[in-house]
Amino acid sequence: MKKDKTHIHWYPGHIAKAEKKLKEQLSLVDAVIEVLDARLPISSSYDNISGLLNGKPRFLLLNKADLVDKNELKKFIELLKEKNNTEVIPTDAKHSKDLNLIIKKAVELSEPRIQALMAKGLLRRPARIMVVGMPNVGKSSIINKLTKSSKTKIGAKAGVTRQQQWVRINPQLELLDTPGIIPMKQEDQERAKKLAFVNSVSENAYSNEIVAEELLNILNEKQAKAFREYYKLPEEKELNVDNISLERNWLLTGGSTDRERTSVYILRDFREGKIGKFILDTIPE
Ligand code: G4P
Repeated sequence: MKKDKTHIHWYPGHIAKAEKKLKEQLSLVDAVIEVLDARLPISSSYDNISGLLNGKPRFLLLNKADLVDKNELKKFIELLKEKNNTEVIPTDAKHSKDLNLIIKKAVELSEPRIQALMAKGLLRRPARIMVVGMPNVGKSSIINKLTKSSKTKIGAKAGVTRQQQWVRINPQLELLDTPGIIPMKQEDQERAKKLAFVNSVSENAYSNEIVAEELLNILNEKQAKAFREYYKLPEEKELNVDNISLERNWLLTGGSTDRERTSVYILRDFREGKIGKFILDTIPE
């Protein structure tokens, strides 16, 4: 049976499995770094995170900050700080060499739990943290940067699944070297499409044409001039897949527009930040 590609499809079996794995990983740590995509400060967050954390502290990284407008990002940082009562740090894990602030915050945030263990008579031990987030937000890049200076793998711990590797960042901090992948369970198609814009959804789950058209709609609302200029589309022409296809002369035999090829290019150009710096969420009223 042909799959309906007008909707983005989620896979409930995978979700249950992913959630179980994430819960297991979370049970091992004192604090959590949740990574969001700065282009989607609201849509790339996980609504159920508090439920899974069970009171453990977390802070947020707005990664890929190099791909958004700095002033617009500041507004979202304030919003997220207030909404979640957490620290929110913009990062660029691709280009930045220095993520020391994250290490400092992770140690600070874990300290109350370490103190609580010591109050129970246990010896002080390094705090244990992990990185979680939706696919493709930059979790592995962040882990790589954080562990770059310290490649001391300290291996499995007693009572802990053997596959879990820990890396000692400094005497106060150990990081789980595999990220926790947040399962995507939204029924919300608007959000699903936004996640597809930033490549956070498997390409098999959607149609490029529908997602690219939706991206153009949002950019139109944002009056994204840069986008129009990039594709050399005159003001009088509507910003849509067909017009870009015509402008680029991407046509099929017979002369109709090559919508698939054009859509793939639009999505790629957006994801690589070639066209401009945009945040695709809006601040709620
Ligand atoms: P994940 O573990 O959350 O799935 O994400 P991962 O670190 O694998 O990063 C996904 C892609 O995003 C990678 O690109 C990575 O280089 C890029 N990336 C990560 N952080 C940033 C950032 O702050 N800014 C920008 N602009 N890009 C970032 P890729 O195309 O898959 O690989 P590569 O071409 O970089 O090798």
